[in-house]
Amino acid sequence: MNNFETLIRKNLRTVIGVLSGTSVDAVDVVLVKIKGKGKSSEIKVLDFRSYPINIKLKKHILRLSTDNKIKAEDICRLNFVIGNLFAESVNKFISDKNLSAKDIDLIGSHGQTVCHFPANKKLFGYDSRSTLQLGDPSVIANRTGINVIGDFRTADVASGGDGAPLVPYLDYILFASDKKSRAFVNIGGISNVTYLCKSCDQNEVIAFDTGPGNMLIDSLMMKLFKKKYDKNGKTSSAGKVNAGLFKFLKDYDKFYRKKFPKSTGREYYGEKYISDILKNVENAKPADIISTVTKFTAFTIYHNIKRFNPGELLISGGGAKNISLMNFLKEYSGKTEVNPINEKGITTDNKEAVLFALLANEFLNGNRANITSATGSFKNVFLGKFCPA
Ligand SMILES: Nc1ncnc2c1ncn2[C@@H]1O[C@H](COP(=O)(O)OP(=O)(O)O)[C@@H](O)[C@H]1O
Ligand SMILES: [Mg+2]
Repeated sequence: MNNFETLIRKNLRTVIGVLSGTSVDAVDVVLVKIKGKGKSSEIKVLDFRSYPINIKLKKHILRLSTDNKIKAEDICRLNFVIGNLFAESVNKFISDKNLSAKDIDLIGSHGQTVCHFPANKKLFGYDSRSTLQLGDPSVIANRTGINVIGDFRTADVASGGDGAPLVPYLDYILFASDKKSRAFVNIGGISNVTYLCKSCDQNEVIAFDTGPGNMLIDSLMMKLFKKKYDKNGKTSSAGKVNAGLFKFLKDYDKFYRKKFPKSTGREYYGEKYISDILKNVENAKPADIISTVTKFTAFTIYHNIKRFNPGELLISGGGAKNISLMNFLKEYSGKTEVNPINEKGITTDNKEAVLFALLANEFLNGNRANITSATGSFKNVFLGKFCPA
């Protein structure tokens, strides 16, 4: 436990952040140095790498949320498979950098979300609101030899929150300004926005999921073109928006119109949603369907941020690379500038991985890092569980 005491006392830590988002596209690994704590945290991003997840494993993970033949054994095994996958990615990353486990103080691991049920349903008289990220942190700690803090969402859900979004903590720590209000959009599988009013406090931050990010586009690209995603938005750019389908989506989608705080996932934007789209495509060509869904995705983001009237929108996540999606968003946003984020070492690719490094560091600093105004939780709680190596 001596090492643990040293770790707690450190003011400068070398931390790895690791995650796989709802897109299940890749394991993202970032290496950072973090000095200080809370609002005075200084983060230096040293390196970032993304390790693509093999398509068979991706499909297996996605099946968990739709296949009702899944057994407890499948979930039990997958928890360790993903733990091993994350450990392998981290080990590869540190050996590529000519580093070793002893050079790293801590890993912050989000795991892979497989279920997210923030709405309550009583089961046997008990609340069953819940969220589940697989990739057990003890497996990662023991396979890497590095201390791990993982499972960042559970404490917030247990205290009445959605356990999502968590990224506004990073936005607040790094980007809050006493001079201007700012808005940030992360376009992952799902999109979420953070709005920071001028000089805002931790619990004044407004943040919520706006609706789909790349999730609908990716699923339809797989169904219609057997491709993982619409690279650079080329398919969407080649198609035409179908007015009938666009109207159908505006009426059909119940999530984007909901009041915040709110969060969503594959439970809503999954198989049923996609098959309902395909029943209503009228005579749109495949590329037109992609174009329409891309425009609709931009519309749901815009619909949720227009009330804040921000001067600038800073975009992160894989969606920032979809040129067609960005163009639709720019069209909707009018005078509001829409730009990919590139500030204080944070880029469109590494933002979420840096978040989990920061959250792990804040756990050791004794800081409660949920944003109650974003998650809907009734108190500030410690995010994460500590698994010493
Ligand atoms: N060059 C690109 N062109 C278009 N879309 C892209 C590109 N690169 C990544 N994406 C999209 O971004 C997604 C991954 O985004 P990411 O931010 O990693 O999401 P998540 O956090 O859900 O994993 C991919 O599934 C794909 O839809
Ligand atoms: Mg990803």
